[in-house]
Amino acid sequence: MNQENQPLKFGHFDDAAREYVITNPQTPWPWINYLGNDDFFSLISNTAGGYSFYKDAKFRRLTRYRYNGVPMDNGGRYFYICDGDTTWNPGWKPMKTPLDAYECRHGMSYTRITGRKNDVEASVLFFVPLGENAELQKLSIKNLSQETKRLQLFSFTEWCLWNAATDMENFQRNFSTGEVEIEGSTIYHKTEYRERRNHYAFYSVNAPMQGFDTDREQFVGLYNGFHEPQAVLERQPRNSVAHGWSPIASHYFDFELQPGEQRDFIFMLGYVENDDDKKFVGPQVINKEKALQMMARYDTTAKADAAFDALRKHWDELLSNFQVETDNPKLDRMVNIWNQYQCMVTFNMSRSASFFESGIGRGMGFRDSNQDLVGFIHLIPAKARQRIIDIASTQFPDGSCYHQYQPLTRRGNNDIGSGFNDDPCWLIFGTTAYIKETGDFGILDEQVPFDNQPGSEETLMEHLRRSFNHVADNLGPHGLPLIGRADWNDCLNLNCFSTNPDESYQTTENKTEGSKAESLMIAGLFVFTGEQYVELCQRVGQNGEAQRAEQCIQQMREAVEKHGWDGSWYLRAYDFFGNKIGSNENDEGKIFIESQGWCAMARIGAEQGMPEKSLDSVKQHLECEHGIILNQPAYTHWHVEMGEISSYPPGYKENAGIFCHNNPWVIIAETLAGRGQDAWQHYTKILPSYVEERNSLLHKVEPYVNCQMVAGSDAATPGQGKNSWLTGTAAWMWITAAWHILGIQPGYDALTIDPCLPKEARTYRVTRRLRNAVYHIQVNNPNGKEKGVSQILLDGQPISGNKIPYAEGEHEVEVTL
Ligand code: GLC
Ligand code: GLC
Repeated sequence: MNQENQPLKFGHFDDAAREYVITNPQTPWPWINYLGNDDFFSLISNTAGGYSFYKDAKFRRLTRYRYNGVPMDNGGRYFYICDGDTTWNPGWKPMKTPLDAYECRHGMSYTRITGRKNDVEASVLFFVPLGENAELQKLSIKNLSQETKRLQLFSFTEWCLWNAATDMENFQRNFSTGEVEIEGSTIYHKTEYRERRNHYAFYSVNAPMQGFDTDREQFVGLYNGFHEPQAVLERQPRNSVAHGWSPIASHYFDFELQPGEQRDFIFMLGYVENDDDKKFVGPQVINKEKALQMMARYDTTAKADAAFDALRKHWDELLSNFQVETDNPKLDRMVNIWNQYQCMVTFNMSRSASFFESGIGRGMGFRDSNQDLVGFIHLIPAKARQRIIDIASTQFPDGSCYHQYQPLTRRGNNDIGSGFNDDPCWLIFGTTAYIKETGDFGILDEQVPFDNQPGSEETLMEHLRRSFNHVADNLGPHGLPLIGRADWNDCLNLNCFSTNPDESYQTTENKTEGSKAESLMIAGLFVFTGEQYVELCQRVGQNGEAQRAEQCIQQMREAVEKHGWDGSWYLRAYDFFGNKIGSNENDEGKIFIESQGWCAMARIGAEQGMPEKSLDSVKQHLECEHGIILNQPAYTHWHVEMGEISSYPPGYKENAGIFCHNNPWVIIAETLAGRGQDAWQHYTKILPSYVEERNSLLHKVEPYVNCQMVAGSDAATPGQGKNSWLTGTAAWMWITAAWHILGIQPGYDALTIDPCLPKEARTYRVTRRLRNAVYHIQVNNPNGKEKGVSQILLDGQPISGNKIPYAEGEHEVEVTL
């Protein structure tokens, strides 16, 4: 392949429409979007690949998807258009017929894919109407030619047999369970409905179909692919009824379009639950009442358009809570649109369903969800509130945590292990941020169970106390936090000593007995979130508790200064035997990012200049052109005493990859040190709009969102991204931009204004809505300062300090640095 002939860009931002416009379907990796905001979700790639599920990508998978398939991204919702001898798809795949024009617009919870071939244009708008458990597909086909066109249209989607895991492995059963019903223009998928399930799915269209298929083998042909379905190639639906094997849903139309004529079809992929006594209306005939009602709500173009308008307005409102205007469109489009959008998606999905997360393995993470929600609170505070309660309900009485829980049941599970000793701290982090945004101290009085056990309820405030204590009560020989199975870095497994390739580092026995393994990352996190806990205790009048906590924090600071400083940076950890990790004494892994980020954010050893020295060391040893690398030098061979981290080849993932999630910790620490120029340099290295301008072909994954990991300088392809979308990077990039660079941070009773800017930033304007107030904040930086507010006018009156007390209504705030 001749690399030189490859384009470096595959699309562009359309900021006015809040869309990314992909103009070449052959993106270097499927570039996807998410549909749905509440319970029904879909993943959709730029060629319409992907799948849908209800609430839980593992247990309620509606349509089938094969990950890591050949060819890539095979399976989705496809429309086949037959025009004479030519058959094509608006999204190019799966036929891959060369199109005369192609465009995919990914917007806020919708995607519009448009293709044109031989003067026929087909445009499909995909979205989930607000509050509806269905994906709508509005297909508009237009004849742009001067002649009458006779066209055939086949829709296509493949049902998943609900449990996405067994769907892919339990064929001895699955091949005999599939069942469908066909009525009117609707294909109902009712596999297992006769027994324990009370839900079915359906795929309908708002016009009388002229044929259909529901059996994959008959539609596609046993030895054919989606790019050559026999029924389509022969323009002949089989009217097949699936009994077992692989049920699908395909509608068929044969129609004419006059020159200039357009025809719209509204397809609907829906999900319905029925009460047990209302499941059937006849022998094995399912009750379709709810499905019919749903279809009726969108059975005309006008109704579908109205639902789409409502979705657009919904996003206008959500995003209006924080809008910035600078002279830098690359910053504005990220802060105003894509970063907030990604925060919504990570809040909804945690780490479950993406094109890198199979939707089977990982549910909602305790640590991940607490971080995600902080980037999301300003969008829909009530949902963040519920999430905090859900998460806290899975905590154990001693403050420790399940590492994840399943969204459908909201119960903790041990699939990804437990005993990660950083987990409890994040509950403090999430809860305090929520109260600061909303003023809802009432959440602290909520009765929340432990491990979902009825009768075990205590207040949320008590959960926070146990979170704090779980760290304070589990200290190692240096007075530093014991790491447990791992800390934020899931792969720093200092107690597992696994030599069996058939077991997971995350779930194998955790040999903490007699372990001296301590974490400097947790130490920094504990001081930082501990101070949030102290401030909260003071707010609610628990002054004794505040003092006690303050003492623990002070001891931790001293322990870090004494045992956690390596001369020019903070150590990373002590291992099982008490040996240093992340020290200049080590041959490899001399310096790590996480402890620099957290200890510098917590300003540990500030009098001795430790944070600044540590940040300088980061620049010297960890920074590269694509961002800040996790550790250096990379581990070149495997260390049994460190676990998974050294299992990765150098430059990838937790072994010297650029793990974007942790870059913001350093950036924030830079802003706390007042170094706006350095913060900005680190920030823009991983800011998607800046990355896009460099080279999308190299970066590979979507240019409009952050990915979890970019290959570091030790890798074969430095700069290549992986694991896009579902990453804590989203929330942390938001916190970085909103609170620390633009410097607008909600506190308990005031909005703190404390920007930290690159010298060239002279002026910007932020509109911030919260607590029934709107603040129009004009920041002026006439002398090119990096930090330091010199004057604030609130509604024309000077105030002292940089805190704007909350007051309902509209306010003009003029800030001079
Ligand atoms: C993944 C996990 C997150 C973890 C990180 C580093 O992003 O979801 O919980 O902190 O990896 O290992
Ligand atoms: C792997 C990944 C890490 C993830 C962990 C838990 O170790 O590298 O990022 O957090 O699995 O599933």
